[in-house]
Amino acid sequence: MPNIRSSYTDRVNFFGGENPLELAARFGTPLYVYNEHILRRRCRELAGLSAHPGFHVNYSAKANTNPVLLSIIREEGCVVDAMSPGEIFLNLHAGFTPDQILYVCNNVDADELKNAADRGLLVSVDSLSQLELYGRVNPGGRVMIRFNPGIGAGHSAKVITGGKETKFGVEPARMDEALAVVARHGLRLVGINQHIGSLFMDGESYVAAMDVLLALAARLKEKGVRLELIDFGGGFGIPYHKYDGEKRLDMAGLGMLLHRRISDWSAEYGYAGRFYIEPGRYVVAECGLVLGRVNAVKNNGSNIYAGTDIGFNVLARPMLYDAFHDMEIYREGGVPDEELVEQTVVGNICESGDILAKKRLLPRLREGDILAALDAGAYGYVMASTYNSRLRPAEVLIGEDGAARLIRRRETLEDLASTLLCSLN
Ligand code: LLP
Repeated sequence: MPNIRSSYTDRVNFFGGENPLELAARFGTPLYVYNEHILRRRCRELAGLSAHPGFHVNYSAKANTNPVLLSIIREEGCVVDAMSPGEIFLNLHAGFTPDQILYVCNNVDADELKNAADRGLLVSVDSLSQLELYGRVNPGGRVMIRFNPGIGAGHSAKVITGGKETKFGVEPARMDEALAVVARHGLRLVGINQHIGSLFMDGESYVAAMDVLLALAARLKEKGVRLELIDFGGGFGIPYHKYDGEKRLDMAGLGMLLHRRISDWSAEYGYAGRFYIEPGRYVVAECGLVLGRVNAVKNNGSNIYAGTDIGFNVLARPMLYDAFHDMEIYREGGVPDEELVEQTVVGNICESGDILAKKRLLPRLREGDILAALDAGAYGYVMASTYNSRLRPAEVLIGEDGAARLIRRRETLEDLASTLLCSLN
């Protein structure tokens, strides 16, 4: 193993029988690489959080919609959410049936609601006006309402979705108004859901928000509403600081709290319906990394810049949220390099904010090195763009047999032109 800095992927056997330098040579860079074994392990860990018969893991597909990964997640017994016609399309493509897909949308038009209803999906609406619209589009249909529990959590204000400062959900105080809309259109309110935000590393807020939703469910029961589905949302964090030994979220502890709550509540209220958790990141983040190449190294004043092909068109999270992704470095004939030097790792996009890792202590990078941004399986490829008319990368899966196979080809210049209405020479 060419190991300037690779103890993390070595330890988890991320590359199986492959080697990152060969993968980069064979498939080119930038390249998303996924590990099937890690993906399956995460699914099983989540499914094991509660043995309650109604408990399900509703994978939030926005984190990664590659249908090969979706199929693996489906095989592991998860159901799935969708929040756009594109996600419905890809989920169906991966073999999920309509009853396994929950449409959790936000501010959409009548056509989109109708598309979901016509395909037989259960739809969750997140405002009274969307409920009204849904009632007109699908009178007499089944519906879910997303409530805002007034509690938020997340790694950045941009991804906190509970509380007053966010656009999401119906305020619990408006429950009676919501029920009036439901009645007016002959809808059947069959479920309630929430999502407090993305990436918490202790479960306290999540459990507090569960209690809010269960209290709402109890109030609904008193009003004669028979729920079939209660969805607590996602947000489970993963440790991005791999080389600093960051602690994992205590899933066993959280699982115990969750299990106790849903079992006790079901017994108290005679509820035999389903409970969902809706994780995206926890399922897929750690099974993916993105490989890139160091194309140039230079000094600007006292700053050392390592220029790579992992721009924010490839991995947007650092630019968008100042998110941290740990780095590995692979070099032909490399030996562990003990000397750590402060370096700023940047991409090849024409903006100064195109920074992958700012002033990071890393072994000294050299032109030609292959580097990995770890934990890029969630909100990585799905947020990639063709900015600067760069081509979106390929994706490779290391299977259970340890061998790599291409699961998405790299884009081509023809792809860039595929939506144009003028002919190109
Ligand atoms: N359910 C709903 C309704 C959501 O809006 C989300 C994420 C999830 C579930 C899954 O959350 P997760 O378990 O992945 O935290 N692009 C950002 C994350 C945005 C999350 C948006 N909603 C990032 O890269 O950190």
